[in-house]
Formats: sequence, structure tokens, C-alpha cells
Amino acid sequence: MTETAHDTWFSRLATRAQAGPSELSAVLAMASAGGDLVDFSGGFPDPALYDTQLLGETAAKVIGSRPEAALQYAPNYGLASLREVLRAEVSRTQAVTPGPDDLIVTSGGVDALTLICKAMLNAGEAVLVEAPSYLGAFSVFQSHDGVCVPMESDEHGLVPASIETAYDQAVAQGTPPKVVYVIPDFQNPSGLRLGLERRREIVEIARRLGLLVLEDVAYRDLAFDGSYVESLYELAPDVTVQAGTFSKTFTPGTRMGWAVGPATVIDAMAQAKTNTDQCAGALGQTLLEAYISEGHYAASLPVLREAYAARCAGLMDALDAGLGARASWTVPAGGFFTWLEVPGVDTKALAPLAIEEGVAFVPGAPFFADGRQTSQLRMSFSRTPVERMAEGITRLTRALDRVQG
Ligand SMILES: Cc1ncc(COP(=O)(O)O)c(C=O)c1O
Repeated sequence: MTETAHDTWFSRLATRAQAGPSELSAVLAMASAGGDLVDFSGGFPDPALYDTQLLGETAAKVIGSRPEAALQYAPNYGLASLREVLRAEVSRTQAVTPGPDDLIVTSGGVDALTLICKAMLNAGEAVLVEAPSYLGAFSVFQSHDGVCVPMESDEHGLVPASIETAYDQAVAQGTPPKVVYVIPDFQNPSGLRLGLERRREIVEIARRLGLLVLEDVAYRDLAFDGSYVESLYELAPDVTVQAGTFSKTFTPGTRMGWAVGPATVIDAMAQAKTNTDQCAGALGQTLLEAYISEGHYAASLPVLREAYAARCAGLMDALDAGLGARASWTVPAGGFFTWLEVPGVDTKALAPLAIEEGVAFVPGAPFFADGRQTSQLRMSFSRTPVERMAEGITRLTRALDRVQG
């Protein structure tokens, strides 16, 4: 693109598009930079864990046997046969069976968040968010003219009482919230899993305040020991929409996800889908359906858990050995992330120095909706080979030496 073309068109872009590249696209650009970088930035699954032969055979099979479904538009709710399979999948780990109208197939997790915004959010309305939380969700809420109001977290995750404080604050600002967004399992970015007691408090408070709980379960299947804590949806299906994705446990390339919740909200999400991509891609839907119903998904989970547990242990060892008392960090029991606190260091300023030294992480600030300055940062261990981790931490230490002297 020439500079002149940029100048001519830039002022005509919608205001929301003039903000420049999002923090998220900066992360994705970093993660795809390649080279000798030791990359702890993006929350990417490790492609080495895909069974490409099986996926290829399954794709050929569904194209051969169900071309009218696999290669055609699908209903905006998703293919009926996949919805059946996903309802059963939800019940596999949760003591709740969604009704036939309670589930929609989405194009990954972000699409589910987008559809909730289109279904629930009027311009200027508040969404209560964890601090820190998934920056991609902030971007979705804000691009629908929502206002993110932060709650509080401690070393165990979201502090339930802070829902009420944030609610009152939003009401005082004239933006009464309808939605509280929570990632209870191996949270992005903290890596923490909420205990059952807090989960019970969260749904009790939400019910009392008339809030819809938007529960994001992107990492729920990835406890290293295969365990599950009762979900918010399981505890309160009347006030919860659970949004899930197969991007972390199947492939992000297929962009498959789902949402379950009260039929009225799910129906509004299905209507909203007619204004976005109309339906999740049918080829991915048929592939996922075959993969789950032939038992491959369930069989793959122990393999993924073991691989990510080993990566996590590798990073914990490297941090212990290399950083020691210079920082503290969460010790995740699942998922992709650990969250570090480096006292006295502005991690946004540290990030470019770290890249110069050959290591990437995501600074903490964008994980706070108010963009506060932080001495925290996120590291993803999901696709960094264990044998590269010590080198990555050595490089991080060199970058720290440059800011701390
Ligand atoms: C908590 C959380 N929700 C949703 C997503 C996005 O999922 P998808 O890539 O399927 O849109 C991510 C991806 O990083 C995530 O961490």
C-alpha cells in the first residue's frame, strides 16, 4: 500500500478502525516472527500434536460420504447432527444436559463472544471483566461499543465480592451491566483455576443482580490430571452462557466452537449469525463431528494433557533455575499460561528489549481493560520445546539486566 493511498483512505475509515493495530494483532505478529526467537507469546496449540494422517483420512471420508453436508451452507445454529454430538459432549463432563434449542455451533471462541455482544449488548453498556483477562475478549466487547469494567482478582482468581463492587460502579457511571465475563479454568492470562466455593458465590451474586454469566471454557479440557471442577453453567444453567472452543484441543484451523445457554439468548445469537458468517464452516463441522463420535477427541485429550504438562514443568524448572527471586509466577495445573510478577519492572518497556535478546512474551498491560501499567507478564508454554526453555529464560534475564542494571 502506498503512503498516499493510506492518507486518502485513513480518514474515511470508521472511527473504530482508526485506532491502529490491536494489542492482539501485535501478539500474533510476534508469534509468527519465527527465526531463532524463543517464543512464549501466543496461546497457540502445538501443531506437532495433530494427528495429520487421521485428520486427512477423516476429512476425505466426510467429503466422500456426506458431500451434501460437508460442502454446503449449514443452518445458522450449526448442523443438527453436530449439535447432538456437542450436547452429549457438554454432558460428558457436566451434570447438565442442554435442551435441543440450547446450543449453537460457532466459528471458534471469539465468534461466540461476538454473537453474545450482538445478542445482548447495546452501545455504551458495561461488561464486567476479570483483571487480568483475555485481551481478545476486551477487543470484541469494545468493538461492539461495550464498556469493560474491571473486577478484582487475587492469587486464587476472581474475587466474587468484586462483581458487586464493579456492578455498583458501572451503575453509578450510568452504564448498568448485563453480562459478567469469567474464564474459570486455567485462565488466560493467569493460568489459575477457580475453586468450587468461588464458583458458587459467582453464580449466586449474578443471579441476585440479574447478570448473565458469560463463561469461557477454552482450557477446561486441559487439566493436566484430567480433573474437572463444576462449571458455572452446571451450577446455574438459567443464568449462564458457556462459550467453548476446539481451537486449543482440536485445531484452530477449523475455527470450531459452541455456546450453550438459555434458549432465548442462543436463538438471538443464531439470528445474529445471519449478520456475520451465516454459519460455521460445514467442512469443519462434519470433520469435528466424525472426530468426536469416532472417539478420537476423547482419546486425544490424555495425550495433549501429558504434552502440555511436560511443557509447563519444563518452564517452571527453567524459571526456578534462571529467575529465582527476581520474579514470582503462578504454577498452573492446566492450560497454556503462567503469569509472572517482576517487581519494579514496566513489562511493556521490557518486551522490546527481550525481543532484541531473542525471547518473546506478552506484557501485562493489555490484559487489563483499563490498560494500567503493570510489572506483570504472560508466558505461554504451549508450543515451546522443553529443551529451549532454559535458553529462553537466560535471554529474559539478559533483558532484565538491561532494565534493572
Ligand atoms: C480464554 C479464551 N477464549 C477464547 C479464545 C479464542 O478462541 P478461538 O481462537 O477459538 O476464537 C482464546 C484464545 O486465545 C482464549 O484464550
